[in-house]
Order: sequence, then structure tokens, then C-alpha cells
Amino acid sequence: MDVNNQLEELYTAWSSRRALHQPVYPDAVALNRAVDYLRLMPPLVFAGEADKLTALMARASEGKAFVLQGGDCAETFESSSADQIRAKIRTILQMAVVLTYGASVPVIKLGRMAGQYAKPRSNATEVRDGIELPSYMGDAVNGFEFTPESRVPDPRRLIETYQRSAATLNLIRAFTAGGFADLSKVHEWNKGFASNPAYKRYNQLAGEIDKAMKFMEAAGANSESLRTVDFYASHEALLLDYEHAMTRVDSRTEKLYNTGAHFLWIGERTRGIDDAHVEMLSRIENPIGVKLGPNVASDEVEALIDKLNPAGTPGRLTLITRMGADVITDKLPPIIEAVQRDGRPVTWITDPMHGNTIAASNGYKTRRMTDVVKEISRFFSVHSAMGSCPGGVHIELTGDDVTEVLGGAEEIFEDTLATRYETLVDPRLNHQQSLETAFLVSEILRENS
Ligand code: TRP
Ligand code: MN
Repeated sequence: MDVNNQLEELYTAWSSRRALHQPVYPDAVALNRAVDYLRLMPPLVFAGEADKLTALMARASEGKAFVLQGGDCAETFESSSADQIRAKIRTILQMAVVLTYGASVPVIKLGRMAGQYAKPRSNATEVRDGIELPSYMGDAVNGFEFTPESRVPDPRRLIETYQRSAATLNLIRAFTAGGFADLSKVHEWNKGFASNPAYKRYNQLAGEIDKAMKFMEAAGANSESLRTVDFYASHEALLLDYEHAMTRVDSRTEKLYNTGAHFLWIGERTRGIDDAHVEMLSRIENPIGVKLGPNVASDEVEALIDKLNPAGTPGRLTLITRMGADVITDKLPPIIEAVQRDGRPVTWITDPMHGNTIAASNGYKTRRMTDVVKEISRFFSVHSAMGSCPGGVHIELTGDDVTEVLGGAEEIFEDTLATRYETLVDPRLNHQQSLETAFLVSEILRENS
């Protein structure tokens, strides 16, 4: 089929469906201009890379690899600086090293990065002091500042989203291929951090890796794979105009790929089986995910598998459960049963963040480390009890020493939340809480293997 026909057919398919959580742009001409511009921009990823990731996700569905998906709740244009990207990459690499070395399992590094700029909100508008304005939907849509000018959805932000994503992904590729991810640098990634239990543990592990590296060098082993990592980019496919503009026909296969990220997921709020988001992602070849909250029904999951992975391609579909620590043990088993009944493979990931968001007594939106840890370990217990395979974790984190999540070895209390509470949306694990989580997961993986 003709390239333009395929894209037109895609457009007709999703645009005839209900599309939830889309911004209302007052200037339709400006939107068309932005979208036309994006369509002519080079892809950010190559379709072949997406296929490679599908094959890796298939390994994770069988327990032969483990997915580490991590990054900000929402990236912002301001936070896409070199320092912040470096800190996030370093955190993810440190977590990956802990998992790879501690549990002897290949780790798939999947950033919630280079495109995570749009957020669905529970309320379309926000009221402050009697003034009602559109809610902040992420830098891809409007500004955080509470003024009418800043909160109007502006299509030019879609272009900046593309540019920031391109610059971020370029830096990620430079870091991960250019020497920053070299396993002989494991010690350096920890430099500049105050000492605390997680860092001490990390330094000890880094010492062991150093020894192993020196041994291999002395023995003449000299593998490129020790110096570089494959790092993949993912974000929530929320803004359909943007995602459509980034979707292209792959010249090798003549199939549709979203070239704005390797992996895309559909949010809990937009996963309606007859809705536009599911329709769009059902028609692209990338590996994809769906978030599942505690109220998802078994037949919804069956319908999603049928629609999103009819052929049962391993690695194509990931189910990211975000149940909440208190209910996961009750809510997850019937969903696993439905998947087992269906028989087609899925990759299971736990998101221990979104089911555990609370308001602190002083009003801060926060989470407790203890709940995060509880949901992760219950995720593993439920899967192993049912003969199913836990394939990865999805973490909201930052490389900085923020104070947004309660608890951790270097404990953050309600009173200390205010010290460095920087997120515009959800609270993220800081650097040391992320490392702590990685150690916990590596212990569970080791026990299970
Ligand atoms: N390339 C291997 C991997 O991705 C080993 C590796 C090199 C690595 N640098 C790393 C692993 C940094 C974790 C973190 O697994
Ligand atoms: Mn979030």
C-alpha cells in the first residue's frame, strides 16, 4: 500500500474514536502548522531498534532478562539540562549494575525519558482563589505557571517537545556509547554523593566489579559490550496528534512504527478498548505497554490482548500493573489467571508508584518507600505463586537528592519534604532511594532464581 494511504488509514482509524485527555487548542491553524512541521522532521529512533527491543522484552517475559524502566513522572523543558540528564542516566546505570551483578540477569534499560512531557489530569481545570484555569498537562501542552496565558494549550510546545526529546536522546546515546557507561567506571558514578547505607553497599559492589574487570583485562578478554549499553526511550503515548506525526512507514518492512520512542505505553485513564489510544497503538509495530490499575476487569485485559497482540508475538505487549501495596495480593491473581487462560505471552512489569500516592498531613503529594517496597515484593510473590513470570519494574526517579518520597535509609519525614520538593507532578525516588530499591529487587531476583 502507498505510504500516504497507510498513514491516512491510521488517522481515520483513531480519529473516529473517542479520544480522552486531549488538550483543546484554541488555534486549530497553529496546531496543523505544528503537526505538518513534525511530520517532516527526522525520526528519533529507527524501526530496527524497536524490533530489537521487542525481542528483549520477549526475553523478559520468560524470566531470561529483567526490565528496568525509570525516569521522571514528567520531564520538563527546564529539567532537560545536561546535568539532570546525566544524573538520571547515572542513577539508572547504577541500578542496572546492581541488578546485573547482584542477580546475574541481563537488564533492559528503558528510560521514562526523551519524550515524557505530557500528563493526563484527573480534572481538566484547576481552581485557585476562585480563579479557574486549564490544568497543567505537562510542558508538551501548556505552562505550569498559574496564569491564563501560560495555561492555554500551545501547539508550538509540540515542536519543542520534539526538539528536547531529540537533544535528550542524542545525549543519552553519546553517554551510553561514548564511554560514560564503561563498566570500569562503576566507582566514578557514585562520586560526590554523601555516604549513606546504599552508597556504602554500592561502593562495595563496585569494588567487586573492579576486581572482575581487572581479572578479565589481565586474562586478555576485551569485549566492547563491557564499555557500552543499549539504552531505550519510552513515554506515555498521550497526545495523539504528536504521536501520529511521529508515526512513519518503515522502508524495510512497509509497516507503521512510532519513531518518537522505542516503547510507548497507554495510561490507565486512556485504555478504553474502543477508544482512540488503543486503536492507534494497535496499528503500530513497536513494543507497547498498558497500565492496569486495581479496578481493571479480567475481560478488559482479555480484550486488550486480543486487540493489541492478536498474533501473540512475544515481547509485543507489556502489562504494567499499578495496584497499590494493600490490594495487589487480591487484585493481581485474577488478572494473571485471565492472561494464563488466554495463553498469549505478555511481559509483566510492576509500577509500585502510582497505586501508592498519598497526601502528607502538611498537604504534600507523596509516597512511602515502605509501600513501594511492599508492592514490589508482593508483585514477585504473587507471580511466583501462580507460576507466572515477573519481568520488570517501572520507577519514577530522579538522579538528584530531592525530598519527595517518605522514608528510605536516609530517612525523609513529613517535615523534611519541603527541603527539596521539586516535582511538578508526582513524587520521585531520589538517587539513594533508587539505589536502595535496586538492591531490594536484586535480592528478590536472586532468591527467585
Ligand atoms: N553491556 C552490558 C549490559 O548492558 C554490560 C554493561 C556495560 C553494563 N556498562 C554497564 C551494565 C552499565 C549495567 C550498567 O548489561
Ligand atoms: Mn506519575
